[in-house]
Amino acid sequence: MGEKANKSKKDMTVFRPPEDFAENAIVNDPDIYRKAEDDPEGFWEENANSIHWYRKWDSVLEWEPPHSKWFIGGKLNACYNCLDANIEKRANKTALIWEAESGEIRKYTYRELLEEVCRLSNVLKEAGVKKGDIVTIYLPMIPEVIISMLACARIGAPHSVVFAAFSGDSLATRIGNANSKVLITCDGYSRRGKVVEQKNKVDEGIRSCGLVEKVIVVKHGGNEISMMKERDVWWHEIMKDSDISCEPEVMDSEDMLFLMYTSGTTGKPKGIVHTTGGYMVATHTTTKLVFDLKEEDIYWCTADCGWITGHSYLVYGPLSNGTTLVAYEGAPDYPDKDRYWDIIERHKVTILYTAPTAIRTFMKWGVSWPQMHDISTLRLIGSVGEPINPGAWLWYHENIGMGKCPIVDTWWQTETGMIMISPLPGVTTTKPGSATMPLPGIKAAVLDEKGNEVAPGQDGYLAILKPWPSMVRTVFGNEERFIETYWSKWDNKTYFAGDGAKRDEDGYFWIIGRVDDVIKVSGHRIGSAEFESIMVSHPSVAEAGVVGKEDELRGEVIYCYVTLKSGAQESEELKKELRGYAEKNIGPFARPKQIIFSDDLPKTRSGKIMRRVLKAIANEKDPGDVTTLQDPSVVDMLKQKTKELESS
Ligand code: PRX
Repeated sequence: MGEKANKSKKDMTVFRPPEDFAENAIVNDPDIYRKAEDDPEGFWEENANSIHWYRKWDSVLEWEPPHSKWFIGGKLNACYNCLDANIEKRANKTALIWEAESGEIRKYTYRELLEEVCRLSNVLKEAGVKKGDIVTIYLPMIPEVIISMLACARIGAPHSVVFAAFSGDSLATRIGNANSKVLITCDGYSRRGKVVEQKNKVDEGIRSCGLVEKVIVVKHGGNEISMMKERDVWWHEIMKDSDISCEPEVMDSEDMLFLMYTSGTTGKPKGIVHTTGGYMVATHTTTKLVFDLKEEDIYWCTADCGWITGHSYLVYGPLSNGTTLVAYEGAPDYPDKDRYWDIIERHKVTILYTAPTAIRTFMKWGVSWPQMHDISTLRLIGSVGEPINPGAWLWYHENIGMGKCPIVDTWWQTETGMIMISPLPGVTTTKPGSATMPLPGIKAAVLDEKGNEVAPGQDGYLAILKPWPSMVRTVFGNEERFIETYWSKWDNKTYFAGDGAKRDEDGYFWIIGRVDDVIKVSGHRIGSAEFESIMVSHPSVAEAGVVGKEDELRGEVIYCYVTLKSGAQESEELKKELRGYAEKNIGPFARPKQIIFSDDLPKTRSGKIMRRVLKAIANEKDPGDVTTLQDPSVVDMLKQKTKELESS
């Protein structure tokens, strides 16, 4: 255990980078922080030189708060950077090792991936997709999702990937918002051996929105589907005769690369806009530095392309670094609970990037599963998506990292595009449970309501004080919401992340979790308001208050407090129906843990549901002052009901 260090002041075990790791690390000189702090634009400019540009930028940054432009005047193509740029040195290197839940394995070299991407680029052009048209992708974790993203990037069509487990309605909302006319999906896919009927969800979902003119369908699940004449085409049929070369579109640095919908505090998901130049520089650089990526690494990020991690650290960051990546389609316990460790052993994975929920689940399953396999090829392990508790961190360190792998606990968001707070594995001394320090070039702080930095040990709000290259540019079609959500808490120069945090006496950041009405279930982001608006669309529901309850395994689970319309009867059947309703209308990951019927909900005198109070009740915490409620007695009644549930 070379790395195990000493006790810090407060008797907490800290971990220094192992000597042999640090010696060979891409970054092992802490001076990088000082240099970047002295000249952040210079830092990003130097890194921008590592990617390919058709034309270099005239200036690095234009900052008109809260709007930034990066690498102004620069011209590049993201797909070129991921594929063509690797052809000279790595044409026959494996770019992707993909494994299906069924055990099927497909491998692509950089050349093969480029050819597939070019074929699809030509198909899309043929279908009338032009630069600037948004293409929606609704695919599970199969190679075609990566090929689709890159083909869009190649022809300058921003992609909007919708997580495959979302419902058809959620898909339709996103298609409608993006005004997307072309959709790429599949017949179905398997999850724990059962087929999910993806194309049926599409047909139901888009029936009402009437926008989609072309649906490209990957044959994957093998389930029966119906194809609509003229609208629907099979992927394998149109790809067959398509040409294997396609000139990439020359994109401006500030042209949109993709849209990624994410939940916020109001009823509708917001389309986070990322542009090309800054995003590519940021993801390319941070993938290299945070994961210490070397030519021979086999890198596995377990995220799905339906979320931002799958964009930044499965596709754009790793491929632009010429990495061999592993992607897995299925569940971690199929056919058995050692699937991840089996994959690591067979493919000789050296870097693993996964989520705290997964780590806690593995911990629950027990160490005998990883012990069945030789996972000693691992040299670095990472975590993302929610706070990792020190217990899970230590378990990960001892049982997966074998005490020798540095852990990178990476804090970031859909909106930040890149990792913002994280150790640099060859430099940073880590503390279990802390994401440690902002990366070089990033300036973060913990502020109070008024915007003053809080004292060490005190809770406050996480803020980013300086622009960074991959920052969200706007909320698609809703500039007002962009400003209100992120740039209005203090002033228009200070980014409000929506997370609570504190710093310790060494300046380390400890992320506490969301302070707004966003719930994180197994790392998936779900907005309370969005959820409630779906619940009240059920014919029996009058009002709904949806909050997160802390959960050892999943971070949070959903508690849904419901008042019924007159005539509707409380029953176990109705509870079941409402759970199923949420699942059908949002997705299985959004299934509420509890439905609690109540005659009333805690409301302000103006009738607004007080989620803060509901959240305290669900978590059996003190709801604070409730005297201003319309009817304070509701609180005791709900406390009682929640308590009964816990003991039943
Ligand atoms: O609450 C923070 C949590 O995830 C939120 C962002 O969610 P999303 O946009 O879906 O992106 C997730 C993947 C980047 C944050 O506001 N979060 C993410 N990483 C961490 C985290 N909380 C604590 N520690 C982390 N390492």
